[in-house]
Amino acid sequence: MTHVRKAIFPVAGMGTRFLPATKSVPKEMLTLVDRPLIQYAVDEAREAGIEEFIFVSAAGKGALEDYFDTAAALEHQLAAKGKTDALAALERTRMPEGALTILRQAQPLGLGHAVRQAKRLIGNEPFAVLLPDDVIAGDTGALKQMVDAHAKVGGHMVATMDVPREATRSYGVLDVANEFGRLSHAKGMVEKPTPETAPSTKAVVGRYILCPSIFDRLDTLVPGAGGELQLTDAINADVEAAGVTGYRFAGERFDCGSVQGFVQATAAFALARAELGGDFAAFLASCVGQHSFAA
Ligand code: UTP
Repeated sequence: MTHVRKAIFPVAGMGTRFLPATKSVPKEMLTLVDRPLIQYAVDEAREAGIEEFIFVSAAGKGALEDYFDTAAALEHQLAAKGKTDALAALERTRMPEGALTILRQAQPLGLGHAVRQAKRLIGNEPFAVLLPDDVIAGDTGALKQMVDAHAKVGGHMVATMDVPREATRSYGVLDVANEFGRLSHAKGMVEKPTPETAPSTKAVVGRYILCPSIFDRLDTLVPGAGGELQLTDAINADVEAAGVTGYRFAGERFDCGSVQGFVQATAAFALARAELGGDFAAFLASCVGQHSFAA
């Protein structure tokens, strides 16, 4: 089985749920405590052994592209002032030479269309896709867990989590043939089913390991839910030919594409930080029941 070396980060979405902020700040640059969402995704990919990082970006996302560039003037000033901690904080933003490629999706025609942009760069090997607005916290990164499992089962693999049945309409949901521990072999996937029609409560979230055969499916894809070219539809079309396995990762997932999920993640990540946790926990406790800033 081929080692997963490349990852696509689709970052071309409009982020309408975060307007007006996303009028000029890319959604993926919104920060959880002091790191932008894209940094969490890149760190997770590195931990999983990813060596080539492909951003599918769009016009107006310059801040995201600059973030992984060198900042010579800033680094020079920090060094001159002896700010070694601040310099060390920049370490995570460095990419080895040639490791980052930034593509443009001309129009936000959907996640499937975004992934299709990277076809020539991927070639004939399995690859990962990480959606930076799904942030997953845990001892071992979700993608690392998946890469290890994928080495044994191959095919397409999607990250899953169990959701309450009433929540299925917010997710792609697996139609499960059989389950072994964290793995569910799928008969198919259904996009945003009603609780009554959902084939299971295994929701698909933003981590995928895909075989290159997906690009043939993406080439012939027609618009699906919301009029967009949906990655889910392409994976579904390849179920019989390539096989699709759900991997129920260990960890906590935050939907940072929604304002509610993002503020919850902000609180959880602040609480988890040793240097912030105690005071911040006390502050949160003092806020309980407070609904406005009015005296
Ligand atoms: P979302 O649908 O959550 O992102 O796509 P969005 O469109 O930016 O957000 P809203 O709904 O308007 O608030 C999930 C991921 O797919 C990427 C997004 O950047 C996000 O990482 N995406 C989506 C693309 O790269 N291109 C697209 O055409 C659509």
